[in-house]
Amino acid sequence: MYNILKGKRGIIFGALDSNSIAWKVAERAHEEGATFVLTNAPIAMRMGTINQLAEKTGSQVIPADATSMEDLSNLIDQSVEILGGKIDFVLHSIGMSLNVRKGKHYTDSNYDFTHKGFDISALSFHRVLNLLYNKKAMSEWGSIVALTYMAAQRVFPDYNDMADNKAYLESIARSFGYFFGRDHKVRVNTISQSPTPTTAGSGVKGFDGFISYAEEMSALGNATALECADYTISLFSDLTRKVTMQNLFHDGGFSNMGVSDGVMEKFISKE
Ligand SMILES: NC(=O)c1ccc[n+]([C@@H]2O[C@H](COP(=O)([O-])OP(=O)(O)OC[C@H]3O[C@@H](n4cnc5c(N)ncnc54)[C@H](O)[C@@H]3O)[C@@H](O)[C@H]2O)c1
Repeated sequence: MYNILKGKRGIIFGALDSNSIAWKVAERAHEEGATFVLTNAPIAMRMGTINQLAEKTGSQVIPADATSMEDLSNLIDQSVEILGGKIDFVLHSIGMSLNVRKGKHYTDSNYDFTHKGFDISALSFHRVLNLLYNKKAMSEWGSIVALTYMAAQRVFPDYNDMADNKAYLESIARSFGYFFGRDHKVRVNTISQSPTPTTAGSGVKGFDGFISYAEEMSALGNATALECADYTISLFSDLTRKVTMQNLFHDGGFSNMGVSDGVMEKFISKE
């Protein structure tokens, strides 16, 4: 361990269980000397095991529905108070599509589901940034990271409306990142992560095939949740101060591949 987050204060959204990417980020941030508040939707707190993580990392848990300005405002005020100062890092690790969950095909969306999923998965990031910015709750050279997936740029048929939500999320990081950089010297980035076996990830139809294909296509293989946490920690640290408004691929090289030898082999006739 490098102690690169020593003395830093953070808010971590989205740790549901030990598979969650946010869970690994919290464990790594703790190891690196940070203190932070954990948060999740009130319903997820009942379903998940977040209290174990809180105990392990000496953190407090504050429930907040990421679609509620009131909850988020309260979360930020309380976090500054509990942690004893402005916030240095924030992880937005939130995603949910009701169309995916209820089996609605992309070509036949239920638009109430679309609205709800968009609010949770994309607009929530704008809400969080808005409140942090207007409350002046971030320290100078602070860092805000949201997690995304490459379906924002390329078609993965079963990713459904989450593809559109991720495209919007990545755009928010650029647009808000400008104002946050200009006015408060705060970084805003998205990390585009490999498919990862978590509750949200496994909800995508055909996830097994999907993850094996990505593994075979990537020069370094898929990035794990723990590796994603390591990368996130580097973006929270002072070693990446001028990285902002970027969508950063963390995928073993997948996003720059056309085809790999392993995948080609499956299509070359054997006679
Ligand atoms: N798993 C993958 O394959 C993969 C790949 C790339 C990006 N991502 C992204 O990583 C992030 C984290 O997902 P994960 O894979 O760790 O799965 P996860 O299911 O562990 O995390 C998703 C979290 O979103 C939370 N959430 C849902 N609705 C909420 C609400 N209204 N308010 C607050 N929180 C709410 C859930 O409670 C859960 O903790 C998501 O943005 C996801 O899209 C995942």
